[in-house]
Amino acid sequence: MAKDTYTTHQVADMAGVHRDTLLRWLREGRIPEPGRDRNNWRAFSREEADAVVRFAKGISESNLAKVAERQASYVTGGAYSQSVPRLSLLDWDFVDANTGFLTHSIHPYPAKFIPQIPNTLIQELSSIGDTVLDPFCGSGTMSVEALRLGRHAIGLDANPLSCLISKVKTTKISQSEADELLGLADEIKDLGQQTSLGNLPLFPDMPSFTAATRPTFRGVEDWFDEHVIDELAFVKKKCRSLTQENARQLALVAMSSIIVTVSRQDSDTRYVRRDKNTQLGDTFSRFSRALLDTTQKALEFAREVDSRWNVQIIEANILDQPDIGSVDLVVCSPPYPNAYSYHLYHRTRMLWLDMNQPDFKKIEIGSHRKYSRKGSNGATVETFRGELDTIFAWLARQLRPKRHACFVIGDSVIKGEKVKNDELLIKVAKKHGFVLEANIKRNLQATRKSFNPKIGKIRDEHIVILRNAGGEL
Ligand SMILES: C[S@@+](CC[C@H](N)C(=O)[O-])C[C@H]1O[C@@H](n2cnc3c(N)ncnc32)[C@H](O)[C@@H]1O
Repeated sequence: MAKDTYTTHQVADMAGVHRDTLLRWLREGRIPEPGRDRNNWRAFSREEADAVVRFAKGISESNLAKVAERQASYVTGGAYSQSVPRLSLLDWDFVDANTGFLTHSIHPYPAKFIPQIPNTLIQELSSIGDTVLDPFCGSGTMSVEALRLGRHAIGLDANPLSCLISKVKTTKISQSEADELLGLADEIKDLGQQTSLGNLPLFPDMPSFTAATRPTFRGVEDWFDEHVIDELAFVKKKCRSLTQENARQLALVAMSSIIVTVSRQDSDTRYVRRDKNTQLGDTFSRFSRALLDTTQKALEFAREVDSRWNVQIIEANILDQPDIGSVDLVVCSPPYPNAYSYHLYHRTRMLWLDMNQPDFKKIEIGSHRKYSRKGSNGATVETFRGELDTIFAWLARQLRPKRHACFVIGDSVIKGEKVKNDELLIKVAKKHGFVLEANIKRNLQATRKSFNPKIGKIRDEHIVILRNAGGEL
C-alpha cells in the first residue's frame, strides 16, 4: 500500500463508523469508489478519505436532532440502542441497487426480499459471530447475507424446494466439485448443439435410457412438450450421476431454475398454460448455461465467505415449533394471506425433483387456495391471527431476550377486505412479550409485479422491528 493511501479499515476508523457501514455506503453508491492497489485492495487517497469523513459527519450532523427525537420515543436499551433510530432514517427503497450479485440470482423465487434489506438489518442489529435466523427462508437471501457479514445463519422453510435452493446458495463448493460441474455443463452444451441440428439419433431409445428419471405426475404431458420431457429426464439422470453431493445438489438447482421457462407454465407467478414453442435442444442449451452460471457464482461465493461461519437449513413447518436453539436476531419476510401460492407456482419443479408437493400444499401459510375457498372451510383473518400466535409463542423462546425480530410484510385483501398485516402482527407479538421499536414503510419498485392480479397492485410494505423484552415488561 502506498504511503499516502489508506485502507478501508483505516478510513472507517477515521470516519467513526464500522467497516461494514463504509462498505455498504460504497455498494449503495453514496460515496465514490476509491482506487485500488496492486493487490486490488481499496486504497483511499487523502482526498477520498476526507470525503468519507465529511460524508459521515454530514450524516450525523444533519440527522442528530432527528435521531435524538426518535430515540426519545423508543424504549430500547443495551448494545443496539442507537441502531433502531438510525435504521428509521435510512432510505429503504434501494432504487437501482444491484440485487443479483453472488448466488442471489441463481434461481427465481417469488417475493424474495432484496439482499440490501437483510444486510442492513443484520449489520445494525447484530455483531460478528452472532446467529441470525430466517424462519421463512425461501430462497436463502438472508442466509447468504448473514454469512457474508460474518454471522452464523439458520434458515427454516416448509418448502423442500426452498431448502434445496437455500443450501446451494450458501454452500462453499470446492474446486473439484466445480470441475465436475463444468464438465457436465460442457457435455450438455454439446448435446444441445447436436440435438438442435438434428444430428443425434438420441431420442429413439431415450425413454428406456431415462426410465428411472421420467416423471409420472398427473398432467406432465399437459405442462411439457414430449421432447422437453426427454431432455429434462436425461439432464436429471446426469445430475444424479455426479459423484459429489454438493455438485449433485447444485446441478439439480440449475435444472430446477429452467423448468418453468421450458414448460408451458406462463411464468413463475402464473400457473396457466401457454405454448412457448420450445425447440429441440433448447432445454439442453438452457441447462448448460444455467449450470455454468450457477457454478461460477457458487465459486465466487466460496471465495468471499470465510469458513468460520456456518449455516443450517432446516425443512420444517414453523407451526410445529421446531427446537432450533437460541438465536440473536430474526430477519424474515413471512408468508401472508393471499400473497402467493408457492405450492402451485413451484408444482412442476417440485414434482420433477421428486419432492412431496401435496404435503407442502397442506401446511403452506397464506396460500391463495386456502383464502379463496368459500364456506366454513375457507381461511379468514382469524386463521392468520392464530398462526401468528403460534409463531410468536415459539419465537419468544428461540430469540434471546432484548434481541430483535424484523419482519418485512405487506397488506392482504381477504374476501374483498383490506387487512393491515403489520398492525395484526404487532398486536399478536405484543401479547408474547415483544416491544415495537419501529414500523418503517418502504415503496416497492413500480416495475415489480403485483402479487395476485385479483387483489391488485401492492405498492408498499412495512419493515416491522420488534424487540423480545424477555420478561422485562
Ligand atoms: C415471502 S417467502 C420468503 C422469501 C425469502 N425472504 C427470500 O428472500 O427468498 C415466504 C416463505 O414462507 C414459506 N412458508 C410458508 N408456509 C410455511 C410454514 N408453515 N412453515 C415454514 N415456512 C413456510 C414459503 O415456503 C416461502 O418460502
